[in-house]
Amino acid sequence: MAATPSGNMQAAFRQAMRSIAATVSIITAGDRERGHGMTATAVTSVSLDPAALLVCINNRTLLHHIMSSTERFCVNVLAQEHQDLSAAFSGAVASGERFALGDWAETEEGIKHLASAQARIFCVKKLAVPFGTHTVFIGEVDDVQLSDRSAPLLYQNATYCRAIPMASG
Ligand SMILES: Cc1cc2nc3c(=O)[nH]c(=O)nc-3n(C[C@H](O)[C@H](O)[C@H](O)COP(=O)(O)O)c2cc1C
Repeated sequence: MAATPSGNMQAAFRQAMRSIAATVSIITAGDRERGHGMTATAVTSVSLDPAALLVCINNRTLLHHIMSSTERFCVNVLAQEHQDLSAAFSGAVASGERFALGDWAETEEGIKHLASAQARIFCVKKLAVPFGTHTVFIGEVDDVQLSDRSAPLLYQNATYCRAIPMASG
């Protein structure tokens, strides 16, 4: 494998990360006074028992600010038809106007969740680990609501994609 000159390491890292296909989610957080949602692919399961997952959120985002001071968040796993929603929640639409798009409902605690999402994973924040530009938030899952289909919206090489099963050999 060719060595990468150190000056190019960051660019190579970004390029390597772009080659990782990932399912797109919208992370929502808030309380009765404020709520926010942001598109994210850095979502990974951490533990089955207790059920827990992590999300990595850039320190400069409004969602980071809100998640730092609230207890709960929800991972809304997007489906193929949610491409416009993903764009809106990653900056194309201003924060205050995002929830006008899509079929959002709200829990008693004020957490917005997307009715048409493939899955809605409700979490209680357990740990926040800052590292570099991001913070890793680990949440313990206390409710999961599933749709009956599996057609995830994927993101790879800065492009939205869909998963197509390979022909069996
Ligand atoms: C497909 C996609 C995946 C993203 N994944 C993440 C992520 O995992 N973590 C993160 O901090 N930002 C991620 N972003 C960037 C945020 O969605 C974007 O910066 C967002 O608009 C930030 O800020 P705001 O909500 O404060 O406007 C992603 C953007 C896109 C388009």
